[in-house]
Amino acid sequence: MGEADRNALGARAEGASKLLTKLSREHKRILVVTHIDADGLSSGSIAFQSLARKGAITSVRALPDLDPRGIDLLKNDRFDFYLFTDLGSGLIEQLTAALGESFMVVDHHQLPPEYASRPEILNAWNFGYDGGTDVCSATMAYLLAKTLDERNRDLSVQAVVGALGDRQDGGPGRSLTGLNREALDDSVELGLVTVAKDFLFHGRETRPIHEAMAMTYSPYIPGLSGAKDASLAALSNSGLVLKERGRWRSISELSTEEKQKLMEVLTSFAGSSGDGSALVSSLIGEVYTLQLEDALTPLRDAREYGTLLNACGRMDATDIGISICLGDRYTALSEALRLMGEYRSKLNKAIQALQMGGDRVSTHGDVTVVMGEEFIEERMTGSISSLLASSEKFKDKMVLVRARSGDSELKFSSRLGDSFPKEVNLGLIMKEAAEQVGGVGGGHSMAAGAKIPISKRDEFTRAVLEKVAA
Ligand code: C5P
Repeated sequence: MGEADRNALGARAEGASKLLTKLSREHKRILVVTHIDADGLSSGSIAFQSLARKGAITSVRALPDLDPRGIDLLKNDRFDFYLFTDLGSGLIEQLTAALGESFMVVDHHQLPPEYASRPEILNAWNFGYDGGTDVCSATMAYLLAKTLDERNRDLSVQAVVGALGDRQDGGPGRSLTGLNREALDDSVELGLVTVAKDFLFHGRETRPIHEAMAMTYSPYIPGLSGAKDASLAALSNSGLVLKERGRWRSISELSTEEKQKLMEVLTSFAGSSGDGSALVSSLIGEVYTLQLEDALTPLRDAREYGTLLNACGRMDATDIGISICLGDRYTALSEALRLMGEYRSKLNKAIQALQMGGDRVSTHGDVTVVMGEEFIEERMTGSISSLLASSEKFKDKMVLVRARSGDSELKFSSRLGDSFPKEVNLGLIMKEAAEQVGGVGGGHSMAAGAKIPISKRDEFTRAVLEKVAA
């Protein structure tokens, strides 16, 4: 990767913006096609809103993945132009063959360097940015939106949500860096977001302390994540005042001394399962509060907002997620909250099934394979692999989770734990191993996925293991 070149990125965004402005003025029908996760829903919504504000005739659609068949289906819908966000970088040839010049890809997934100069591709990697850590698709879409019209700076909030939903808070103290930071700075300058240092528990402002602890899955705290009663029991002997006048207090109400006490409880608890102090320090970091959101909803905290969108995507309710991004705070929000409960209980069930062990998990060197055909749904593989990779138990492993995809295929999700001992690029490994067996794969260095024919299961797994060991 070369030096980051913000000016070159700005110039390419300028070209893309001119084309989209022209298409909008000519009343062309533009379909925004995006991915189903939090970054996908955020980037698709940013692209859709910036086009709609230009007066374009536009719609937005979210897909779990893109393949040549999917491209043909999109083509059959006969839109004048297709704007892909958060997907498409691995399929530029196929997109060109099907759609000619009538498409643009705005993305942060790594792509072959030969596409760097093509004007229809606005990809972070082409300008020296690491799309796995410094810029998500929502931020890419935001930079384009800001180029389309300076008044779109309010959309920076959605870029912050997308970046956190994509776990790009890898800077010091779990902070956003690179171009994501630029989007954050815009939203702070507009008074839409404030930044502080605090516990990263979900429900920091809105939930009883033990519930906030139990709702936090990243990092995964064995015994506390997903376990409300155990969290309450762990807090009860600490002397912390958990209730005031019959009302549960939240973490944000604790004084500095009380937070210190909470740290001690967590450290002693986490200590029983590996490096307790490292785990606890990973629970403190930059928190991003959305000032215009109701303090009693998860949308108030940008990380929780990202989790809510991921839940919508994984629960097959991308329309709900997009409605929330576009501003629905009534029907869509209450439905999303319900889905969030279901999503958490699915995650819990899968984790419990895993803890029962048996032949569902096997470790080969640095790789832990989870054979989820019988108990993990296709859409949940990404969440489960992320959750496992953030746990103490697997922090030095590559986690490879698989599930059935229809009758004839398998879906794989892979993630690297934070302390993985080697330099590997998961995106490349999954792409090459999948293509070796007639499948499709790709992603980032730390998170990637693949889909392959069921009959090639063992061949694919062997290829991945060999590539990681190499
Ligand atoms: O599906 P999963 O969540 O495991 O994907 C991890 C990352 O890899 C996501 O960012 C996804 O967009 C990307 N990916 C990809 N090409 C694929 C499958 C996944 O770029 N064929």
